[in-house]
Amino acid sequence: MRVLVTGGAGFIGGHVVEQLVANGADVVVVDSLTAHNGPPDYLPPAAELRVADLTDERAVQQAVDGVDAVCHQAARVGLGVDFDDVTGYVRDNDAGTATLLRALWRRSFTGRIVVASSMVVYGEGRYRCASHGMAQAQPRTVEDLGAGRFEPRCRRCHSVLAWTQVDEDVPLDPRNVYAATKVHTEHLAFLYGRETGAPVCALRYHNVYGPRMPRDTPYAGVASIFRSAYEAGLAPRVFEDGGQMRDFVHVHDVARANLAALESSWVGACNVASGEPHSVLEMAAALGAGFRGPVPAPVVTGEFRLGDVRHVVAAPDRAAQALGFRAEVSFGEGMAAFAHAPLRA
Ligand SMILES: NC(=O)c1ccc[n+]([C@@H]2O[C@H](COP(=O)([O-])OP(=O)(O)OC[C@H]3O[C@@H](n4cnc5c(N)ncnc54)[C@H](O)[C@@H]3O)[C@@H](O)[C@H]2O)c1
Ligand SMILES: [Zn+2]
Repeated sequence: MRVLVTGGAGFIGGHVVEQLVANGADVVVVDSLTAHNGPPDYLPPAAELRVADLTDERAVQQAVDGVDAVCHQAARVGLGVDFDDVTGYVRDNDAGTATLLRALWRRSFTGRIVVASSMVVYGEGRYRCASHGMAQAQPRTVEDLGAGRFEPRCRRCHSVLAWTQVDEDVPLDPRNVYAATKVHTEHLAFLYGRETGAPVCALRYHNVYGPRMPRDTPYAGVASIFRSAYEAGLAPRVFEDGGQMRDFVHVHDVARANLAALESSWVGACNVASGEPHSVLEMAAALGAGFRGPVPAPVVTGEFRLGDVRHVVAAPDRAAQALGFRAEVSFGEGMAAFAHAPLRA
């Protein structure tokens, strides 16, 4: 089977490529290498790398030739710096996806398409009120956050809400440009599937961590930022009260989910998560425990960013039922190993 992996030189794409090659697939990678200094050394030599931008129509048309399945990982990631980034996100993620899909359409492709999506499509997580059942969270105000009132409250009775798992059927609510482009990527891919009959699956990754995660940049995930702090002998600075609940899923499991999705022909969106939620403070502690010798204790700063969501916890059931995917790397082992994993400069 010949598989095109877009963004295959990236953090997650690289692990997908590695597992596909190990399984005997013939892999072609299209990656602009914008996030890299040259081709990364972890790409298996058996994978064919085509250095090209996804918006390069000719290069993409050539790359889709002869492929049986597509795994679309390429994207401009992270939250960006400010709204000035909007055109860059739309170009890479929307126009890039559109160029890929049109190239597939021009060769009447009806094979498997798996696209990388994200938990950011949900915006806020899901909450339950003791009196009102499933409840919408009131937006958190600067006054609330400044006074340390971090937990979202019920719009109807203003009591503190309890978090519950987010399943794939909740209405999508992208809250930033990157999230909006991930929703659009899903929608464009599903439209392609409806028009052509190609079975499309969108994988909504939760907080991915593991070897080759990009280092400490404005775009890096919190696990990588905390790790860099520990390495510098500094205490990780934990925002709010550290009680924000997330699902940290290891990149090996995310790559396994992609292989499972490529093998299946199930159509729809699935969370890709560990099913083992932890707070950000627990994550800082588990990561610190992986370092040899004492490390500074995380500092809970009470700082906040208005745009942050309080809790996002995934329901992992659909991926289990639809794709037969369950995460295997435990939180404790994965985080301890992450303390010493190579990171991308
Ligand atoms: N890391 C996470 O926690 C996370 C969470 C949710 C979703 N995702 C999604 O997973 C996918 C992979 O993300 P990642 O964390 O591996 O990021 P990454 O930056 O390591 O990988 C993305 C790759 O895409 C390439 N790329 C970017 N724009 C391109 C373009 N226009 N043309 C060709 N190649 C291009 C980059 O060079 C890079 O190699 C993305 O679609 C992202 O939205 C990641
Ligand atoms: Zn209520």
